[in-house]
This record gives sequence, structure tokens and C-alpha cells, in this order.
Amino acid sequence: MTKKILLAYATRVGSTIEIAEAVAAVLREWGLDVDVRSTHERLDVDRYEAVIVGSAIRMGKWLPEAVEFVEQHRTSLREIPVAYFVVCHTMSEDTPEHRDMVLHYLDPVMRAVPDVQPLSIGLFGGEINPHKLNLMNQLVVKLVNAPVGDFRNWTQIRNWASVIAPMLMGEPELLYP
Ligand SMILES: Cc1cc2nc3c(=O)[nH]c(=O)nc-3n(C[C@H](O)[C@H](O)[C@H](O)COP(=O)(O)O)c2cc1C
Repeated sequence: MTKKILLAYATRVGSTIEIAEAVAAVLREWGLDVDVRSTHERLDVDRYEAVIVGSAIRMGKWLPEAVEFVEQHRTSLREIPVAYFVVCHTMSEDTPEHRDMVLHYLDPVMRAVPDVQPLSIGLFGGEINPHKLNLMNQLVVKLVNAPVGDFRNWTQIRNWASVIAPMLMGEPELLYP
């Protein structure tokens, strides 16, 4: 039977939504029925058999609404397969040091909701487009010398989706062929 998957995303200026849609497209190719929704929406998580939560990073943290989503739905999420992803400028260069740093961006959610254990965590480069940012955020980007541009690696994003698909389907024979 087709499994229903929720992909809940948190964004400020949109690059995370496009990543969410790209992940969903791959999962649909695997035969999964995927709903892509904002964490701001009122969501009935119990309707789903697996959940992905993906968020942009601001000031070294997942967006608060992504953390709140996991906290709010922790009772449901600890019973089903869950995956997280992170979108940030640090991953514009994929190095072991950057991966380590970005994994720490998830410390607040891991500490707040240790009983929800993601099967996988996708670490993706994002986009900084000054035209999409207000003056304050343009200033922050300048101050921290963040790279301007689109660093989303669509091959890496799609590959991650292909890796997590069998995990979300909960089919161990696909995990260990
Ligand atoms: C004000 C501001 C703060 C940011 N802080 C961080 C940060 O601490 N670490 C990081 O790696 N990326 C940081 N980023 C980069 C964003 O995570 C990246 O641009 C992401 O693609 C934004 O996602 P969105 O388009 O879905 O909002 C920051 C971007 C802005 C504009």
C-alpha cells in the first residue's frame, strides 16, 4: 500500500521550499505519497507513516518553528520513521569540519526532543540572494562574510532523497540488500 509521508519545512525566503519539493519529487518516484507543507500550517501528523522535517538556518539554529513542530508532535514522531534536513550557507563547501559544525546547529532540537531520533540528517548548501533579504539581514550576511549565491547541490539533494526513501518505507530488505 502507498505510504503517506509528510515533508514539513521551515523557511524565511524560500530556498528551503525548493529543496523540499525536490526531495518530494524523488520520494514520489519511489511510490510514496508525499505532502509538502509549511510547519506554520495546522497539520494532522497522525495521518502520516513517516515525516521529514527540513529547515533553513538562521544565526546557527534551525528556525524556531521547526523546533516547535518537533516538540509539538513528539508523541507521534517518536513512533514513526523521521528524517531531518538542514539548509545553510556553511554547507556551500562540503567538508568534514563544516558537516560537524552544521550537525551542532541541531543541538537545540536534539536536546529538547531526544526521544525523536532521525534516521538520517541531510546537510545541504542553501542560497543567499541579497535581493530577497531585508536591509538588516543583508547587513548580517555582510558582517559574517557569508558567500552570496545559490549553493544548492541538486544531485546531492536527490541522492539523499533516494537513500532515505527505503528507510521511510520501513523496508529493511531495501536497507540491507
Ligand atoms: C540573516 C541570516 C542568517 C544566517 N545564518 C546562518 C548561519 O548561522 N549559518 C549558516 O550556515 N547559514 C546561515 N544563513 C544562510 C541560510 O541558512 C541560507 O541562506 C538558506 O538557504 C536560507 O533558507 P531560506 O531561503 O529557505 O530562508 C543565514 C542567512 C541569513 C540571511
